[in-house]
Amino acid sequence: MDKLRIEGGRPLCGEIAVSGAKNAALPILCAGLLGNGPLALDNVPQLHDVATVLRLLRRLGAKAERDGERVLLDAAGVTSVEAPYELVKTMRASILVLGPLLARFGEARVSLPGGCAIGQRPVDQHIKGLQAMGAQISIEHGYVVARASRLKGARIVTDMVTVTGTENLMMAATLADGETVIENAAREPEIVDLAAALVAMGARIEGAGTDRVIVRGVEQLHGATHRVMADRIEAGTFLCAVAATGGEVTLTRARPATMDATLDKLREAGASIEVSGDRIRLSMSRRPRAVNVRTAPYPGFATDMQAQLMALDCVAEGAGVVTETIFENRFMHVLELQRLGADVSIEGNTAIVRGVPRLSGATVMATDLRASAGLVIAGLVAEGETVVERIYHLDRGYECMEAKLGQLGARIERLGGST
Ligand code: EPU
Repeated sequence: MDKLRIEGGRPLCGEIAVSGAKNAALPILCAGLLGNGPLALDNVPQLHDVATVLRLLRRLGAKAERDGERVLLDAAGVTSVEAPYELVKTMRASILVLGPLLARFGEARVSLPGGCAIGQRPVDQHIKGLQAMGAQISIEHGYVVARASRLKGARIVTDMVTVTGTENLMMAATLADGETVIENAAREPEIVDLAAALVAMGARIEGAGTDRVIVRGVEQLHGATHRVMADRIEAGTFLCAVAATGGEVTLTRARPATMDATLDKLREAGASIEVSGDRIRLSMSRRPRAVNVRTAPYPGFATDMQAQLMALDCVAEGAGVVTETIFENRFMHVLELQRLGADVSIEGNTAIVRGVPRLSGATVMATDLRASAGLVIAGLVAEGETVVERIYHLDRGYECMEAKLGQLGARIERLGGST
């Protein structure tokens, strides 16, 4: 398994381009199953999760070809409606084929994803919504088996705000008979991007980005071209890294309007940030001030930025309180941060982080994607050598992270290993 070796304690300086958003690309690729014509997607990041979804789509019989940042998808040849366990277990987002397969082919068999390092993450809301639209759903041998000759529009109120749940129901509703209203919908920018792709394919959707999404079903969707939005979490991760190490960075191809909560916290921590068009410039010339964060659905502070912000608090002046409200087990990075000398204590879903003047390098182990990003940031600040093991988690969601950090002057290299 590959590792990253980081020689920390250096400020970072330079310019990097933000990649396309993983969490927009994944649902939009699944939406390709809904169209009668080819879907051309630009700005698709080169990530393991994207490769997994492409493998899944091909397994179903779709054609999926990549040419640099562009992916061409054609669902004309789909012959299977089954998403098998071996693919779903490596990527929970595979559940996003459930809605499209059922709506387009009247049937879907999708393996239940099972547990996950950051929490239980059930899919009951996806199922409840599809049932409200008339689907017959049973759980058979670990699979969600869904059938419906044609889904019917319905009013659905989800019990909690769910991102992929909203996406699955929105996709399914595009081909349903009549109007579907999703209340308590997630408002994440990735949902707006998915809606834009679906509208380009001929869907009729209003309210994406609000908590009430209205979808008027159509007979069929066609092919389209769409450019995947910039990754706000990748962008936020690099900004956090530079705020922690000190220095100056310009991000290009970013979507700052989707990043208010992160930018506010970084300003509060003492960073100077200027935004112009798709560029964000951050400079940090002091030790960061500790900030409190509480994760929440968008537009609140993203749970996907929690570990990175915590790494910043670890070396800040003062103490910060980090509260995780979305996932019940998303503090797995804390024990590893402690190995680097961080002073963090956990009480329930709250972590109290007392900043220390310096961290010291050590070997740490990544447990999930964003925890890994937090550990990389801590390694960039720590004195001496940090080795981050199991970085396959990082490769799921960050495109060439070490190359991009290298561009900013970080001493970081990938080591092939057999651990
Ligand atoms: N939940 C249920 N039942 C459901 C669905 C969700 O109880 O049917 C609960 C979850 O267990 C969780 C909360 O609702 O406690 C919110 O989960 P949500 O469904 O919003 O998460 P998700 O859609 O599975 C997406 C992102 C995650 C991100 C979360 C929260 C994708 C592919 N994944 O997951 O991204 O953390 O929203 O913003 O969009 C990542 O990129 O590292 C990542 C984990």
